[in-house]
Amino acid sequence: MANAPLTSDTPVVVVANRLPVDQVSQPDGTAQWRTSPGGLVAALEPVVQATKGTWVGWPGVPDTPLEPFDVDGMRIVPLDLSAEDVADYYEGFSNGTLWPLYHDVTGEPVFERRWWESYCDVNARFARAVDLEASEGAIVWVQDYQLQLVPALLRERRPDLRIGFFDHIPFPGYEIYARLPWRRQVVEGLLGADLVGFQRGGDAANFLRAARGTCGAATRGSVIECGGRQLRAAAFPISVDAAALDELARRPETIQRARTLRHEFGDPETLILGVDRLDYTKGILHRLRAYGELLDDGDLHPPETVLVQVASPSRERVEEYQRLRNEVEVIVGRINGDHSDLGHPAVHYLHQTFPKEEMAALYLAADVLLVTPLRDGMNLVAKEYVACRHDEHGALVLSEFAGAADELRQALLVNPWDIDGTKEAIRRAVAITPQEAARRMRSLRRRVAEFDVHRWANAFLGALAMVAESREG
Ligand code: F6P
Repeated sequence: MANAPLTSDTPVVVVANRLPVDQVSQPDGTAQWRTSPGGLVAALEPVVQATKGTWVGWPGVPDTPLEPFDVDGMRIVPLDLSAEDVADYYEGFSNGTLWPLYHDVTGEPVFERRWWESYCDVNARFARAVDLEASEGAIVWVQDYQLQLVPALLRERRPDLRIGFFDHIPFPGYEIYARLPWRRQVVEGLLGADLVGFQRGGDAANFLRAARGTCGAATRGSVIECGGRQLRAAAFPISVDAAALDELARRPETIQRARTLRHEFGDPETLILGVDRLDYTKGILHRLRAYGELLDDGDLHPPETVLVQVASPSRERVEEYQRLRNEVEVIVGRINGDHSDLGHPAVHYLHQTFPKEEMAALYLAADVLLVTPLRDGMNLVAKEYVACRHDEHGALVLSEFAGAADELRQALLVNPWDIDGTKEAIRRAVAITPQEAARRMRSLRRRVAEFDVHRWANAFLGALAMVAESREG
């Protein structure tokens, strides 16, 4: 069955910037492991666990050399980054250059030569760590934009490996990509893989164009020929563990917690929810503007309607993120100042990260989920919401610019740059009949159940095996 959990005999070595667990220091000076944020971890953890594989990555705090250890059925190989590496490779090149560039310049990319050198250096260290860890002929699956040079560096050291790369974020059109001063080197790095996976067909097409434009590669459909080697670039839309989320959301304690949460939010007629990393690509400001105008216009009335906005802390040392946090907090303050009743805020703003049990209860409690990024590789929050709504209630307002919009066609699709259009979609979602909500939700749930994270991993690893076999003759 296509979406049975993976049962590979060959352990998969996942290489990602972050480990699936972060080390966080406690006030008493001790350290504790906590699940890292983001969809990448949620999607890949089951793959590594199912294959009894290894995860190579950074533990989330600088200057903390740690020995490999086992956790939740995975071998964890920590790679230490210094404070300078974090500033230049992670906050700098990854999140100050590539992140805004790849998200269609929703922020201003900074091209800093020192950051690029650090990116090269850290990518080389990741490649060395994998070389030491991977057995003969192992499958190595490199993740995301922070590690785009690893495939070629690894192939140079270890031609025996089967190397896959998956890009979790968008790959931009060539006119945007071509601004990158190191555009050729980055594409050459990716061409070291046997298979390069993207979220959307459009991302794969953009990459094929970049391979032709920067390296003179020849492409035929999804096949790329370059330097006497053949590889493939294609779309593999990532997903969630739909069955596990469905099971979690059906638990009596989750259902009870959802009721309690609604009560704690003042038993509103309509509870609207937003769940994002606090990132400028997520469209939080545009969404708040639309919501604020709906209250100003008298279309929605707190406390009958409340908005709960979860904004989990992210990349807090990067200036753009600090600025965004300030802007979000100003607008939340203004809406609350104008529209809250005593003891009943119009917007509940939670700058926190919650465990998955609490998230499932929040999803069940919410009548409307707003997922309105300006640009997003996939957005797994939208899929998590659908997977949790076994009761077939709830309306999803979804940005056309999220990868998930390709699949979740029964959501209420919006252009998040269009404030009037977003207001209209929120009005429709709030007023939706239970029959229409159920019809849309049934269709969304079928899609997410069928194309789940196991199917994604099987499809990618199956395609990787085929490319690698044809290469090995
Ligand atoms: O999906 C994009 C991504 O950058 C992942 O690579 C990462 O795991 C997640 O978002 C969270 O970002 P960060 O590791 O920078 O906190």
